[in-house]
Amino acid sequence: MHKLTFSVALAASVAAALAACNSSSDEVAAAPPPAAEAPAAAPLDAELVTLISAHAAATARDPGPRTAAAGTGAALKGLTPSELRAFNLSKDDFTSAEDVEGGLGPTMNLDNCGGCHAHPATGGTSPTVNPEVAFATLNGARNVLPPFVTRNGPALVPRFVKNADGSLDGTPHPLFTITGRADAPGCSLAQPDFAAAIAANNIVFRIPLQLFGNGLVEQIPDQEILASQAASAAARLALGIKGHPNRNATDGTIGRFGWKAQQVSLLTFAGGAYNVEMGITSLQFPVEREQDPACQLAPTPNDIGDLNAATAVEGLASPDKFAIFMRFLAPATPSANTPGGAASIKSGKALFESTGCTLCHTPTLRTASATVAALRKQDVNLFSDLMLHDMGDVLADGVVQGQAGGREFRTTPLWGVGQRLFLLHDGRTSDISQAVLAHASPGSEANEPVRKFLQLSDTEEQDLLNFLRSL
Ligand code: HEC
Ligand code: HEC
Repeated sequence: MHKLTFSVALAASVAAALAACNSSSDEVAAAPPPAAEAPAAAPLDAELVTLISAHAAATARDPGPRTAAAGTGAALKGLTPSELRAFNLSKDDFTSAEDVEGGLGPTMNLDNCGGCHAHPATGGTSPTVNPEVAFATLNGARNVLPPFVTRNGPALVPRFVKNADGSLDGTPHPLFTITGRADAPGCSLAQPDFAAAIAANNIVFRIPLQLFGNGLVEQIPDQEILASQAASAAARLALGIKGHPNRNATDGTIGRFGWKAQQVSLLTFAGGAYNVEMGITSLQFPVEREQDPACQLAPTPNDIGDLNAATAVEGLASPDKFAIFMRFLAPATPSANTPGGAASIKSGKALFESTGCTLCHTPTLRTASATVAALRKQDVNLFSDLMLHDMGDVLADGVVQGQAGGREFRTTPLWGVGQRLFLLHDGRTSDISQAVLAHASPGSEANEPVRKFLQLSDTEEQDLLNFLRSL
């Protein structure tokens, strides 16, 4: 038995080596697949456990989301007049609701991008009132709200961890169908069986990510990401922080968008979101996810643009317009004095570095050459290394995406976090201090920085929290 296994494995590796030599496809040779469940990690040491429970008595508080305008929703400075026109036209499309005739559904979470990417301005994240609630029954739709979708909770996109046969799933399962809508005669579909998924502990969630400044993120060269990572190697090693990129399988470049850095470009993300969140097919993703013949009420791909449009931009397919809007969207402007005053924010910034947060939340990366002048040679103050890190048992979701394993996530860019209402990949908390504590658990690469965070005095911790909410 052993011998057989060995020879099969050997034959497979020889075949793989041969295939790599003779490869005539575009695919880059794949790394070993990442694990959905990493091997059991050592429990937290007694000191860290004590520090975590003692933190309940801390007096430092999350000052809460900042409310003053932070320049969000505006276009980047330095766009040409025609780029600015394209931005404004594309923004309209980003916020306009689609109907079934336009390709909406048969299954989806919402009818426009802007509903989920709404706070504190168009292009942001989940707003105070979850748009999924009203959409469930819009235009006669007969959807039942699953218990996890609540009016004051975040917009949620569910994924199932495993298929019925026990194999890995990990894909999004949209909340709703077009059944009952006035514009969807004859279509009758059941929503996914969320009750069964909850009972089987087989459901995990993602909340929307903010889009401000993402044109700059798209433009950061892989070399810059890797050089920055290399520069912190010794400091990371000392604290047990690793980090690796999520290289995509098509051309091997570094993925940077999504909670697991699963996409390299805004255009691919836009095409994917159009199909997953709204059920609208395009040239990026031409095949309907739900193919019940009675529910195919628009020709596919649903949106291929319009060659007869009056202007080039108007004629673009929607994913192209969404990508333009996102590429030209300015980043959030941090506040120098709110909350807590300038001295506290300045002190918090220094503590953010001395506790080791910056070893993952890299303050600044830089763009190099760029076709669009406004994106060229710019500082990108994103507070992320764009790497994947093992975040331990507490944050693990068991979803594998490309080279991201079930316990790994991309360091969330913290720019704009000062105004975010919901935090962490599934929106499990709105308290920024709790979001930091959740970084500590068996197997997490962030345990040592959290230990230092917990060793701060109350005043110091307050400074650090003020700094985070100033972003
Ligand atoms: C139902 C809510 C919802 C709608 C509608 C929605 N999104 Fe999102 N968006 C999300 C979620 C959830 C994520 C995180 C996805 C992930 O990583 O799995 C996300 C992430 C993104 C990202 C990645 C941002 C980053 O910094 O990594 C982009 C880009 C994006 N969405 C664009 C769009 C576009 C374009 C549309 C419209 C076609 C859209 N979204 C519609 C929920 C939504
Ligand atoms: C090992 C890398 C690493 C270190 C060190 C680290 N973080 Fe994070 N941080 C992450 C990752 C990955 C996430 C996303 C986790 C998730 O959503 O499940 C995250 C998320 C966050 C969030 C939530 C952002 C949002 O919008 O949801 C905050 C706030 C945050 N980190 C602050 C800190 C602070 C403060 C420190 C230092 C005490 C720190 N982090 C140290 C990797 C790290």
